[in-house]
Amino acid sequence: MTAPVIDIRSDTVTRPTPAMRRAMAEAEVGDDVLDGDPTVRRLEARVATMLGKEAGLFFPTGTMANQTGIAVQSTPGTEALLDANAHIIHWEMAGAAAICGVQVRGVPAGEGRLVMDADDLRRTIRPSSIHAPSASIVCFENTHNGAGGKVTPLAGLRALRAVADEHGLPVHMDGARLWNAAAASGASLADLGACAHTVMLSFSKGLGCPVGAILVGEAATIRRAHMVRKRLGGGMRQSGILAAAALYALDTNLDRLRDDHANASAFAAIVAGAPGARVVTPDTNIVMIDLPPGVASTDVAARAREEGVLISPWSNTRVRAVAHLDVDTAIMTRAAGIVRDVIAAATA
Ligand SMILES: Cc1ncc(COP(=O)(O)O)c(C=O)c1O
Repeated sequence: MTAPVIDIRSDTVTRPTPAMRRAMAEAEVGDDVLDGDPTVRRLEARVATMLGKEAGLFFPTGTMANQTGIAVQSTPGTEALLDANAHIIHWEMAGAAAICGVQVRGVPAGEGRLVMDADDLRRTIRPSSIHAPSASIVCFENTHNGAGGKVTPLAGLRALRAVADEHGLPVHMDGARLWNAAAASGASLADLGACAHTVMLSFSKGLGCPVGAILVGEAATIRRAHMVRKRLGGGMRQSGILAAAALYALDTNLDRLRDDHANASAFAAIVAGAPGARVVTPDTNIVMIDLPPGVASTDVAARAREEGVLISPWSNTRVRAVAHLDVDTAIMTRAAGIVRDVIAAATA
């Protein structure tokens, strides 16, 4: 008998549990495009309150919610300023350009940092000019996926927000994993949420839902977002079935995110034993592994797959593994040993 596959490519691979499926099956539903679905409304109100915002809007994906957050607060023909490795820049099919009409400008993190800070942002904002585009929005990402699930702590976010305020720029936060940032840092979601005008949070990652994200902000902003969501084809009908999964996840899966963080740390410590590998110390559930010189990420991922472990090639020289709800400590430890040995064998 072959060992079951351990899939740690992402925290999106989780399958809804029988209890979550039951909650979905039993959801009270309505037509959310016509009158509002009661379960969706409950979810939107609950998360808005958690984030200290006036209103929320449920989306099928984080990408659509990010793009909507930018569309309703930016001006076509201007710039959006984001960390140079932001998901919005690299993994959303140039939506900011194609949908919102803004040019993204990556803010490089300064020496020794993985994510932009307030000084990096301040340095990048241009004075108003008739020759160069000005910025109309700033976006933060917390936790930061490309930086290995890095948390920007509350003080850092507040400093970033202060720079945006100095320049009168609205802030959208890609908080796909803001749940993890709160769990890891101890900051409340409301305090973190106060650092941005709009915040997107995903349900389909660490919380284990099959689908869903939310955008929260001021009521007037969310009303405009509702129109943009409709334009993008994001109006869903009996979407209470999906919102029920999210409500269930908030009740049962939020408090266990620290387990994922501990599993990611244990995984990282074991893989760091591979000669020549450099593991980015995880703040949360994402582990980035920089491979020894000459070792290709696709080769390591292919060899690990043969041993029953699925990891993601992130760049030519980096692989990513992510701890999640469907892998416990024993499984993560086993996977780590396999990945360490595969890297060692690829190096030999
Ligand atoms: C940081 C971040 N933002 C946004 C998204 C987009 O979410 P979705 O896949 O639901 O569109 C992801 C997905 O991986 C992400 O990691």
